[in-house]
Amino acid sequence: MPVKNSKMKIKICENGPYTVYGGVPLMDQILVPDAEGLSTGWHKGKEYPLQEEYDLCRCGHSKTKPFCDLTHNEIFFDGTETASREPFDSQSEPKTIGPDMELSDVVPLCALARFCDRAGGVWDNLRASDDPEKRKIVLQEVGDCPAGRLVLRDKAGNLIEPEFEPSIGLVLDPVVAELGPLWVRGGIPIESADGYIYEVRNRVTLCRCGKSTNKPFCDGRHTNGE
Ligand code: FES
Repeated sequence: MPVKNSKMKIKICENGPYTVYGGVPLMDQILVPDAEGLSTGWHKGKEYPLQEEYDLCRCGHSKTKPFCDLTHNEIFFDGTETASREPFDSQSEPKTIGPDMELSDVVPLCALARFCDRAGGVWDNLRASDDPEKRKIVLQEVGDCPAGRLVLRDKAGNLIEPEFEPSIGLVLDPVVAELGPLWVRGGIPIESADGYIYEVRNRVTLCRCGKSTNKPFCDGRHTNGE
């Protein structure tokens, strides 16, 4: 996707934090669960004062979260990036086809935000999405997925994406863990420690517990506890 604000960037520091440039808005984003613990939506929480540049903890051990306090040096944090650099579409498994939409899925990007299993699951609802209620569920479950694991297109191949202003949400998960990943929205470029620019996307989740095996992206490991 096109970059909306050319000053904004997230730079991954080798075995250290994410340095955020360009005055990117930062706020808490809290998952709203149903009685079974599946997610139904988002509640916007505290907004942080706008800063032109700041460092966000990537190792999970800062005492001043969400910001880095250099503890990564004391714990010898290994932040090696292991994620695929292939574009999303090249990594996608066979698409799920519905009456007028199709769904791409890249499982390694899953942040375990638990939107896609509610109300029968996005895949079954998509196959029957000529029913307006099921179509609504599909649009909500895919659109609320912070990780961009799931991507919808119409039959003409046009993306069906929520509109986001460039910003970073600090995901808080009241069900399985206090802290979830960074929800990066609106096409902010992410640069690896060795200078590679990952595919610019509308929504991705970055690991901030230090445990992901798919760094820099979240793979849901934060839900396993310390
Ligand atoms: S990355 Fe610096 S304290 Fe966690």
